[in-house]
This record gives sequence, structure tokens and C-alpha cells, in this order.
Amino acid sequence: MKNIYIVTGTSRGLGHALMKELSEAHKGNQVFCIQREMGKETIKNAIYVKCDLSLINELPNVMDSIFNEIDLQKVQSITLINNAGVLSPIKPIHDSSIAEISNNIDVNLKAVIILTSIFIQKTQELDINKMVINISSGAAVKPYDGWSVYCAAKAGVDLFTRSVGLEQSRQKFPTTIFSFYPGVINTGMQKLIRESDKDDFPTVQKFVDYKENGDLLSAEFVAKTLLNHASSNDIENGEIYNIRNMI
Ligand SMILES: NC(=O)c1ccc[n+]([C@@H]2O[C@H](COP(=O)([O-])OP(=O)(O)OC[C@H]3O[C@@H](n4cnc5c(N)ncnc54)[C@H](OP(=O)(O)O)[C@@H]3O)[C@@H](O)[C@H]2O)c1
Repeated sequence: MKNIYIVTGTSRGLGHALMKELSEAHKGNQVFCIQREMGKETIKNAIYVKCDLSLINELPNVMDSIFNEIDLQKVQSITLINNAGVLSPIKPIHDSSIAEISNNIDVNLKAVIILTSIFIQKTQELDINKMVINISSGAAVKPYDGWSVYCAAKAGVDLFTRSVGLEQSRQKFPTTIFSFYPGVINTGMQKLIRESDKDDFPTVQKFVDYKENGDLLSAEFVAKTLLNHASSNDIENGEIYNIRNMI
């Protein structure tokens, strides 16, 4: 019996660490890696699925192609990890273009909602372990000057998660869904933050200090902590979990 994982944004950062951890940890795992460019590494049990998540009308076809590869009779668990994210535009909203705003909302929020919807539709009759993990951020609950679109999108992810948690609690074969705040991770997203202009993002120095003080978590550590949490019996449907309460 197989454990199936569908993970978005596996080209780098946290998504890449999740892909490696999942594909190498258990030979019964099969990991579908949704990323914009096909990966160059050959990773056992990993299958690349090329997709730009901002092209939201293509998401049903992408999910069809993934589910066509899965023999659902031989699956004991199936998990969607909505990890891909984009911080830009890092600047005040009145300086942000419609294209930047739309890309952020499409990737951070619309794709998460649409992929979750399709995932639940396709698995609703299955009496197996089903889980959706949405990678959110402390920025969902704390406003940042210069990150307004990102904050709005992540806040949307959290309330979406909580609402779907309620919906699922009255289903015959419910999917468990939760949001996860991964802390401050040493990835490309943090590099982008440190490189921002102080006029666009006045809090930039705090993030430079995180790096200089060695306060960043490694993507590998965050991936392991998240997967341990997901496999525990401690998950409440629709809940928001913060890595800070786990370490
Ligand atoms: N790093 C942190 O400190 C931190 C803190 C809180 C929350 N988070 C959240 O954690 C998650 C992972 O972040 P990270 O730090 O690993 O970020 P990252 O290093 O910037 O990686 C982002 C990933 O998302 C993918 N992505 C972006 N736009 C995409 C699109 N249109 N289609 C497909 N894939 C796309 C990227 O693919 P490409 O290589 O193609 O660009 C990349 O694989 C995000 O949801 C982020 O908001 C991160």
C-alpha cells in the first residue's frame, strides 16, 4: 500500500526539503512534485509535474493527470501540501502593479483553494487517511508594512483552512486540513526579504539580523518537524499550528 503526497513548489526551499524527506524516508511513498520547471535531480519515488500555479485555469488538468497515475485501490493515505508561495510585491500597495498583486493572490490563495477543492472532490468517497496541509505564515495574523498582499493572502489561507475544517467535520470520510506557520527559514524567500529596499520594507534590518544572529531555521529541520506533526494524533481539523510551539 502506498502513501501518496502531492507537494507544490518543490524546486527549492521548504518544498524541496519536503520532497527529499518524503521520497527518501519511506519506500512506500510516492511524491508528485508540482513545480514550474522539471527537476534535474533524479529522486527515487518522486514524479515531477510541470505547472505554473498562477495559471489557475490549468489546475484541473494538472490534478487529473496526477490522479490518472494513482491506483487508488492501493493507497493507504493521500496528502496535499500547498507549499508554493510568493512574497512579492514587497512595497506599499500604491506602488504595486495589478500583475504583481494578481500573481501573489493567484499563487498564495487561489491555487491553494482550487487544488484543495479538486483534491477533496477526487477523494471524498475514499475511506483512507486524507490530509491537506497549507503552509501559511505568521504574516497571516501580524501586519507588515510592505507585505500587504502577502499578509492578505496568508490570512485568507487560514480562514479558508478553518472553514473547510468545519465542512469536513460533517463528511462521511473527512479530509483533515490544517495551516502551518514554518517560522523564519533559510530559503530564497528570506534572501529576497534581506535584499529589499528599506523604503519599501521598513522592517528589513530585523531580517538581516535574523541571518547574522543565526536565527534562521533550516528547511530540512522545518520539513521534518512538519511531517512529524502531521503524523501525530494531535491534529484538530481546521486548526492553525505554529512551529514555534513545537521547538
Ligand atoms: N522562508 C520563510 O521564512 C517563510 C516564513 C513563513 C512562511 N513561509 C512560507 O513557506 C512556503 C515555502 O517558502 P520558501 O521559503 O521555501 O520560499 P522559496 O524559497 O521562495 O520557494 C518558493 C517555491 O514556490 C514556488 N513557486 C512560486 N511561484 C510559483 C508558481 N507560479 N508556480 C509554481 N511554483 C511557484 C517556487 O518555484 P520557482 O523556483 O519556480 O520560483 C519555489 O519552489 C511559502 O508558502 C512561504 O510563504 C516561508
